[in-house]
Amino acid sequence: MDDYPLAWNLSYKSKGQQWRGLFQYSKFEKDLELGGKVLELGSGDGNSASQILKLSEKIICLDIAVSSFRTLPMKELAMPKIVGDARMLPLKAGGFSTVICRHVLTHVRHDDSLLILKEVRRILAKNGTALIEVFTPDDMRYGKGKMIEPDTFLRQENLIWRFYTMGELKDLVEKAGLKIKKEDILAREVRHDGVEYQRESLVVIAGPGLQ
Ligand SMILES: C[S@@+](CC[C@H](N)C(=O)[O-])C[C@H]1O[C@@H](n2cnc3c(N)ncnc32)[C@H](O)[C@@H]1O
Repeated sequence: MDDYPLAWNLSYKSKGQQWRGLFQYSKFEKDLELGGKVLELGSGDGNSASQILKLSEKIICLDIAVSSFRTLPMKELAMPKIVGDARMLPLKAGGFSTVICRHVLTHVRHDDSLLILKEVRRILAKNGTALIEVFTPDDMRYGKGKMIEPDTFLRQENLIWRFYTMGELKDLVEKAGLKIKKEDILAREVRHDGVEYQRESLVVIAGPGLQ
């Protein structure tokens, strides 16, 4: 645990690219301000960033793991890349029209979720919006590893996996000073070796100035 959250560095060093699968941005595109500056927070190996790049010309990637920027897909993406901690972003207030934050809160300790959301609020422009995605306790990954906090598990590579109910996520988003514009549950079944498993995540769209 001493290496939290930098355990990600070893993960990308040993695995390289590890995130795949398309996110349906079309479902949320009209709720986001993709014409302005976009931050992909916790950009990882660029799986989300490569999709956003098709919708936005002004995207910046930020991740705590320098090794994430050395993964093959990320190396191929021409966009500014910043190594930084989402709990204390090295970015000025109000500079972004959109923040994409997919599965970053999934991998942090309880106290850090609110810190990160407050930073998201700080860097968003007044009419900006954030897209936040996390897994639910009904997801197939729930319960694996050692429970270290409620609904939070320490798994292989010393990585943390936290699962949220919609109520918990919305409460944190609102505590951070963001107003919720839209919420959604993305659920589907996947089949591995003939067995069906549930994948389930929550998406919240929120911003400082939304009603
Ligand atoms: C599951 S990956 C998500 C990657 C990407 N958002 C995507 O959806 O393809 C989570 C990422 O969050 C990053 N991360 C975790 N804690 C962080 C922190 N405190 N500050 C910045 N990035 C962090 C990890 O390094 C990792 O790349």
